[in-house]
Amino acid sequence: MKFFVDTAIIEDIKELNDYGLLDGVTTNPSLIAKSGRDFKEVVAEICGLVDGPVSAEVASMTYDGMIAEGEHLAAIADNVVVKLPLTLDGLKACRYFNAKGIKTNVTLCFSANQALLAAKAGATYISPFVGRLDDLNIDGMELIADIRAIYDNYGFTTEILAASIRSANHVKESAIAGADVATIPPSVIKGLANHVLTDKGLDQFAKDWAATGQSIL
Ligand code: E4P
Repeated sequence: MKFFVDTAIIEDIKELNDYGLLDGVTTNPSLIAKSGRDFKEVVAEICGLVDGPVSAEVASMTYDGMIAEGEHLAAIADNVVVKLPLTLDGLKACRYFNAKGIKTNVTLCFSANQALLAAKAGATYISPFVGRLDDLNIDGMELIADIRAIYDNYGFTTEILAASIRSANHVKESAIAGADVATIPPSVIKGLANHVLTDKGLDQFAKDWAATGQSIL
């Protein structure tokens, strides 16, 4: 499973990229607002840092507006993925960009039927929002599994990008359910390396090693 980081904070992207943990980046208007930076400037900077796909979301709600904004965003760098909302206008824009060979990420997906429409529109990625469904006591992971089954039934190549990931458990469950990618907040990605028994084991090894009085170098 590929890991995208869900942030517009450059320091976090650099740190995770240096660990070799990043396959791509996703942003959304809320994350851009949180960064306090100019949207196009920050997207250009991220694209220069990361080799993989970088999702940049349109703000317009209309087909014409999405086309104009998406063209503009796609011109920033070759690895920009135009992020479009799962609406009828968004799906129409998805079909347009797909025909032009521009990658798309159809976002705010909350049902298997929405995911089916996105695949039929030629989306590169579909983003089902796991955490926001869980917030409503609806099993977000069941949606990932349903989309996996539907896409496999018909051989759709649209990649399932598990989004709105809030915990390490979400990452594990998405991988088990067959998501192609998970977009994950920086703190959750780093937390995946933690285990209390790893820390305990290291403490013991450090004490035992010190007692030998030896040095490796
Ligand atoms: C995905 O592309 C979205 O940016 C993101 O995962 C939304 O997460 P949230 O529900 O935690 O805001």
